[in-house]
Amino acid sequence: MSTLPIPSPRYGYDRLQRGFHWLMAALIFAAIGLGVWSAWLVQGTPLRRGLLDIHKSLGMTVLALIGLRILYRLVAGEPAFRVPPGRLAHLAAKAGHAGLYVLMLFMPLTGYLTSASGGNTLPWFGLFSWPNLLPRDKANAMLGAGLHYGGAWTLGAVLALHLLAVAWHVFVRRDEVLARMIGTR
Ligand code: HEM
Ligand code: HEM
Repeated sequence: MSTLPIPSPRYGYDRLQRGFHWLMAALIFAAIGLGVWSAWLVQGTPLRRGLLDIHKSLGMTVLALIGLRILYRLVAGEPAFRVPPGRLAHLAAKAGHAGLYVLMLFMPLTGYLTSASGGNTLPWFGLFSWPNLLPRDKANAMLGAGLHYGGAWTLGAVLALHLLAVAWHVFVRRDEVLARMIGTR
């Protein structure tokens, strides 16, 4: 009788999940920085337009990637823990992560709504333009801008909790959580 090897559990996120996480974290930090910077500038100035062109290019890249990332997450799931977290801590992490997934979809969609219904350009790093699928409509553009602004504050708050949680794992608990996303587990 042959014995089948027992598959050992995976304790870290796989290469593709880590790639999505760190690439999109960089895109999103850059998008937030440029978005906040442009919010300080007078509308219509060349600097603001230029910053927003890069901002929109970064944000549309997030939109192109997030669908694939969510689908892959549904297939690949969450890796096992060597030392399982408490029930409440795990629930809080899951809620925070779900919130970040929703916001990674909500932010580019409301950004698109703002720019497209405002009749503005949708460039991608000067290489091509995304199609504008929405009619020009000032009310929708203002609705989009309001939702985008509220979403930006919400993202800022949830992201701050995400980073505080990581710091707590690294400096207080000194556990495996950061290693799971770096790939050293
Ligand atoms: C992950 C994706 C994105 C993030 C995190 C993000 C974040 C931000 C932030 C923090 C601001 C400054 C606050 C505000 O004025 O609302 C902003 C402004 C803006 N964003 Fe985004 N954004 C994203 C995607 C997009 C996309 C895809 C577009 C358009 C195609 C876009 C268009 C704009 C515009 C036009 C503004 C200026 C809004 C105004 O002045 O009313 N954003 N964004
Ligand atoms: C320097 C910045 C960041 C660090 C150090 C960091 C760290 C981590 C770590 C260690 C995990 C794994 C948690 C676990 O094992 O349960 C994680 C998961 C996650 N992070 Fe981050 N993160 C950062 C930025 C971001 C940003 C900007 C976003 C998106 C807005 C984000 C979204 C997520 C999501 C959605 C998960 C859950 C992954 C999953 O279960 O599919 N992170 N992060």
